Amino acid sequence: MGHGFSTKGADGGPADHVSVPSNPAPHIPVLLAEVLAALGAEAGGDFLDGTFGAGGYTRAILGANPANRVLALDRDPNAIAGGQALVAEGSGRLVLAETEFSCMEDAAREAGFGAFDGIVLDIGVSSMQLDQALRGFSFRQDGPLDMRMAAEGESAADIVNHASETRIADILYHYGEERLSRLIARAIVTDRKAKPFETTRQLADLIGRIVRTRPGDIHPATRSFQALRIAVNDELGELARALHAAERLLKPGGRLAVVSFHSLEDRMVKVFFAARSGRGGGSRYAPVQAAPVTSFRIEGKWPVTAGEAELAANPRARSAKLRAAIRTETAPGDEETSVFALASLPDERASASRAKKGRGRR
Ligand SMILES: C[S@@+](CC[C@H](N)C(=O)[O-])C[C@H]1O[C@@H](n2cnc3c(N)ncnc32)[C@H](O)[C@@H]1O
Repeated sequence: MGHGFSTKGADGGPADHVSVPSNPAPHIPVLLAEVLAALGAEAGGDFLDGTFGAGGYTRAILGANPANRVLALDRDPNAIAGGQALVAEGSGRLVLAETEFSCMEDAAREAGFGAFDGIVLDIGVSSMQLDQALRGFSFRQDGPLDMRMAAEGESAADIVNHASETRIADILYHYGEERLSRLIARAIVTDRKAKPFETTRQLADLIGRIVRTRPGDIHPATRSFQALRIAVNDELGELARALHAAERLLKPGGRLAVVSFHSLEDRMVKVFFAARSGRGGGSRYAPVQAAPVTSFRIEGKWPVTAGEAELAANPRARSAKLRAAIRTETAPGDEETSVFALASLPDERASASRAKKGRGRR
């Protein structure tokens, strides 16, 4: 690459001064070459990396062309602290900001960026977050039942100890596709009366009593932990808002690339791109179909997934799917309701549609 930034070592863990214990496993950037190609990073320009993590994508974008500038965001203060060495190396070409990627427009304004040539989101948690027991994402190591990426808001323990049985079951079913969601929710509500849930082990043990697995199956708590993490961090709401924000921030010809690890996220990206490129099916029951807003065009075949060599080197890439689209000249559209519907639980969907109809009965 030869521009001071090399993609080698991009997967290095956080720098020494980061306030986290232990030696987290390095985060290996997923589908890196494919993401750089999808962004057109070699052509030069301004890029927004909405999920800085360990800086793997950002470092590679900076290395792809000496004229590239990057605004990188992460809601995790540890990721921001870990990225300061790269900011120093970047001699003014990298701005790093602690914020949600749904707030990318404010962040761009504050950092003095205008429209972008490329925006990338690599949704989900980093290896560092997963591997630090204290963050409470892991069912393999005991830690506080937290799961917050940012340092604020409702924790997993708050949901498990205070949410209604129905809400817990809905979260496990819709965000985790856990078939035994109702049984698990009932057991949680019974057990928490005797002793509130405080640790990841407590919850993983309860789920292990209910979800039976055979050798070779994933850990019984995998789906439930994923579901709680998505709820705690409003990951799907964040994605829905960020897709629309990216549409407003991209230049004509600019590219949006999204890597997701969860079928609901991938469906949201697919539905958004389809709707905004005129490929959305619409509803045959809708009396009048508004003309589609063709603010993106799709070139090539998506999703792109990891090849055998990447899978052998990085098992985390197993469920990664990359989709990308190119911004057109067309003005951004209104909120794509089908995308927001995918992000919400059935109860929230029903009350949103009641409110829309002006009946708001509950
Ligand atoms: C999979 S990692 C990204 C790894 C990165 N591409 C790399 O190569 O090192 C996801 C990162 O996105 C951050 N993140 C997830 N959701 C976010 C959101 N809504 N806003 C900002 N950051 C978010 C997480 O804190 C985590 O650090």
